[in-house]
Amino acid sequence: MSAQLPLIEQDRLFHVHGQTNLRQHGEQGPAVMVTEGHGVYIKTEDGRELIDGFSGLGCTSLGYHNERLAAAAKKQMDTLPFAPTFYGRSHPRVAELAARLTAMAAVPMDRVMFQCSGSEANDAMIKFLWYRNIARGQPQRRKLISRWRGYYGNTVAAVSLSGQPHMHANFGLPMDDFLKLSTPNYYRFHEAGESELEFSARLAQEFEDLVLATGPDQIAAFFAEPMQSGGGAILPPNGYWEAMQAVIRKYDIHFHVDEVVCGFGRTGYRWGAEAFGLEPDSTSCAKALTAAFFPMSALMFKEDFYQDMIQNSDEVGVLGHGFTYSGHPVGAAVALEALDIYDEIDLVGHVREVSPHFLDACRALMDHPLVGDARGIGLFCGIELVKDKRTREQYDPALKIGQRVQDAAHAGGLYLRSIPPDRISFMPPLIIEKTEIDDAIAILRKALDSVWAEIGA
Ligand SMILES: Cc1ncc(COP(=O)(O)O)c(C=O)c1O
Repeated sequence: MSAQLPLIEQDRLFHVHGQTNLRQHGEQGPAVMVTEGHGVYIKTEDGRELIDGFSGLGCTSLGYHNERLAAAAKKQMDTLPFAPTFYGRSHPRVAELAARLTAMAAVPMDRVMFQCSGSEANDAMIKFLWYRNIARGQPQRRKLISRWRGYYGNTVAAVSLSGQPHMHANFGLPMDDFLKLSTPNYYRFHEAGESELEFSARLAQEFEDLVLATGPDQIAAFFAEPMQSGGGAILPPNGYWEAMQAVIRKYDIHFHVDEVVCGFGRTGYRWGAEAFGLEPDSTSCAKALTAAFFPMSALMFKEDFYQDMIQNSDEVGVLGHGFTYSGHPVGAAVALEALDIYDEIDLVGHVREVSPHFLDACRALMDHPLVGDARGIGLFCGIELVKDKRTREQYDPALKIGQRVQDAAHAGGLYLRSIPPDRISFMPPLIIEKTEIDDAIAILRKALDSVWAEIGA
């Protein structure tokens, strides 16, 4: 019976969606039902085509159609659709992928563990830090420092790391041991007359103060995205990473860099760490690892870290961690093919070539009365909507300005992601061409115009 309902109704009645207003979904059904895609376009159930302005969720690096990736998945499914990686068992593709990833890391990394999502990679890292510290005779080192508006995932520990209050509220989270620093959104939070460098120095001082108040010997790690993504595409200001890394070095803090979004070209560098001169001790990546054709993530760390883990595994008998689908053969085959494609088409080079065009077009939107700020790197730009450009005053959240711009953009043919209160995270697939960027920007401008006409005056 229920299968005969229209798809929209099947979804409205039976499907529970994450990061969604459940009551609204129950009343209105899905905002969009995407049925197919090609290039940078998605097609919806009602036959409309939209340019994807946020790459799925920052993951569809190669867009929505790729015969080579599909063939790699099919070949692997035909040959070996599954093999576990528990109990020291392996298969060819995962061994190859592990070696390949360590060889291409931003700074030398020696070991890789595979998971199925970014959340799981970060969650595993938290566990491994605690595990490792026990091996080193420092079990008290449990505090994890991250930043407000950071996004590290949804599992219990990874979400505690995330600096997204709506993901903590009414879950009784975050867990203890998770400490937060300010987001480096210079535009929103700088004080009158404060330069970017001064702002960066103030945030680094906040970091140092927290380290001293906590006790450096209590700290397990500092986790950060090179550029905050789920927080609204927040470009770190001048001097920020230099100042933060000086604190990291001064107190010998383990630095975990989350490359789940930045990895594989988003910033115009293969890794976000390269874009901002970061020196991670460990790193996680996902999303573009398989161009989002298969759920897979990788966690990389160095040999000394691994040697401490070996010590614990000797004591316990095994590394007591893992997922059934860790290192899935189809995911590994797709990832290897995606990495080949990235090299062959010089994806990073393409991002660098179109990036100035993209960023200029985004910055040009700042002449619009609704746009207070637009800044980014590569194909990754955060746009902040404001009520008063002079004072940076924001609209009453109840007006849902970001949501309205998003809806107007959808109506015009651009699939967009607004992040409350009023930021737009603009991050198209990495294969996008300049003409497609122009089309996307024109639709966005029209959407801004229509919202301004509604509420502006
Ligand atoms: C920077 C970052 N880290 C981790 C995650 C979590 O990844 P996943 O949704 O695959 O669990 C995300 C998700 O968007 C992310 O943006």
